[in-house]
Formats: sequence, structure tokens, C-alpha cells
Amino acid sequence: MKNLLVIYYSQTGRLKEIISNFVKSWNGFFNIDFVEIKCDAIPFPMSYRQFFDVFPESVLKLPAKIDYTIQDKEYDCIVFGFQPWFLHTSIPINSFMQTDDFKKLVKKTVILVSDSRNTWRNSLNEVITEVEKNGGNLKGSFIFRDTAKNRRGFFSLYNWLSGKKKRIEKASSTGGISQEIIDSASIYGAKALEALNGENRVYCVIPHVDEEITSIKYEQYAIDKYLKWAKFIRKNNFKHRKFKLLLFKIWLLFMFFVMSPHISNKTKE
Ligand SMILES: Cc1cc2nc3c(=O)[nH]c(=O)nc-3n(C[C@H](O)[C@H](O)[C@H](O)COP(=O)(O)O)c2cc1C
Repeated sequence: MKNLLVIYYSQTGRLKEIISNFVKSWNGFFNIDFVEIKCDAIPFPMSYRQFFDVFPESVLKLPAKIDYTIQDKEYDCIVFGFQPWFLHTSIPINSFMQTDDFKKLVKKTVILVSDSRNTWRNSLNEVITEVEKNGGNLKGSFIFRDTAKNRRGFFSLYNWLSGKKKRIEKASSTGGISQEIIDSASIYGAKALEALNGENRVYCVIPHVDEEITSIKYEQYAIDKYLKWAKFIRKNNFKHRKFKLLLFKIWLLFMFFVMSPHISNKTKE
């Protein structure tokens, strides 16, 4: 039987649940090894301050210390689980993509699985670029997402991250990835299995609800601004980091609550 490596980072355990459902039907076809990337520097639950504190490193792709154990085996296929942080790839995944292990492992057939709120496209592009640059044969990308509107989704995510899971459960019809979607991962995993032998690359967003997706122009606008803020915070070796992060927080909340509906409308024009 062929060997499959499932490798992922999951701060809250949500992607871990999605990904284990995803590969359920692969059992008869592959010997499966699960490897979870750990990053002690990133806590869960996460306070409001800790949430914003990962901003500059996420955007600037600065690596953190990560831990994982990969067996010395020849793998035929990799299922790689990642998530976006501040529109970029999360620090643990970015750190892993900078290792020789990643560069060696990824030269195989690759399926990507991600969980996110509503802005995954930039991070997906970053991961695809790394996979392809290092010789991976990408067969499919499966994005599991939250369908809540921007502001509501932000608070649901924040409640979830701060450990107030009960509140997100109450808001499950509008916030967070519902249990139904998490459970449906096994169905999409079966599709991914078919994609392995297919000619075309599969791109699947689950659930697919067009009108809830933030416009590309708006995302690009935010990415440009984030980069400027991250560079500013990093300036002089992070001197006055706390104060600069406070300024960023004020700017972000202002953009989020006052400006974003206006910018959203403008970018749709
Ligand atoms: C610091 C931070 C920033 C995040 N930024 C985004 C984002 O820009 N876009 C998005 O869709 N989701 C964002 N998320 C949500 C994550 O992508 C992910 O869905 C959520 O943290 C659940 O993570 P887990 O399943 O990996 O534990 C963010 C989460 C964290 C912790």
C-alpha cells in the first residue's frame, strides 16, 4: 500500500478535526501517518493582546520555533493543512515551509486543506507558490470556511480563540465553521481521492457562497496596508513594539467598523 503523510498545524483543534474527517475514506488506499506541527510560542486560548501580537511576524513571514516528528519513510502523497493569519499564512506553517524537511517532502503529489474565516486567497497563493517552487505536484485545494458576515465572523472567531467556545456554538448559524461543515469533510476527502488520478487540479470552497466572499480588491487593499504596518512595527528591531501594535489595533478597528463597508462598496464598482 502507498504511504500518505498528513501534516498540519491546528491552533484550536478545528483544522485537526476537519483533516481527520477528510482522510477517513483514504484508509483502505494508504498507510496514513499524521504529523501535527506544534509551536509553543502560540497559545490557545489566546488573549486579545496575543492575537494582535502575531501580526507583524505573520505578514513578514518571520519564522518561529516549531516542533514535529516525521518518520524516515518514502511518502507517495502529502495532505498539507494550513490557515491564514492576517491575510497571510500562519506563522507555524510559514516556519515549516522554510525548512529543508518541507522542501524535501513536498516533491510529491500534494493536496491542500485549509480552514479560515473569509479571506484565504492570499494565503492559498503563498502556499501554492511554495509547493510548486519546490517541485510539488498539486492536485487539489479544499478550503473550509466560515460563512458569517465580516464583523460577526470576527467576533465569533475571537470568542472561539479566547476559549469561549459555548458562545460560538450559540452563534453557530452565523459564526464559525459549523459542525455540519466539519463533518462534511469526509465527503470532500473522497473527492480529493478521485482528484489524485484526474488530469485537472481541483479547487473547492466549502461551503461555496459567492456573496459572502470579500472582494479581491478589498483584500489587496488590506494586504498593502498590512505590509506597511508590519514594516513600521518591525522598524529599529521592533523598538516600541507594544505602542506601535496599539496604533495598528486602533487603525484596524477603525477600518473594520467605520471604513470597511465604504471601501467594500468602492471596490465593487
Ligand atoms: C491571529 C489570527 C489571525 C487570523 N486571520 C485570519 C484571516 O486573515 N482570514 C481568515 O479567513 N481567517 C483568519 N483567522 C482564522 C484562522 O485562519 C483559523 O480558521 C482559525 O484560527 C481556526 O484555526 P485552527 O483550525 O487552525 O485551529 C485568523 C486566526 C488567528 C489566530
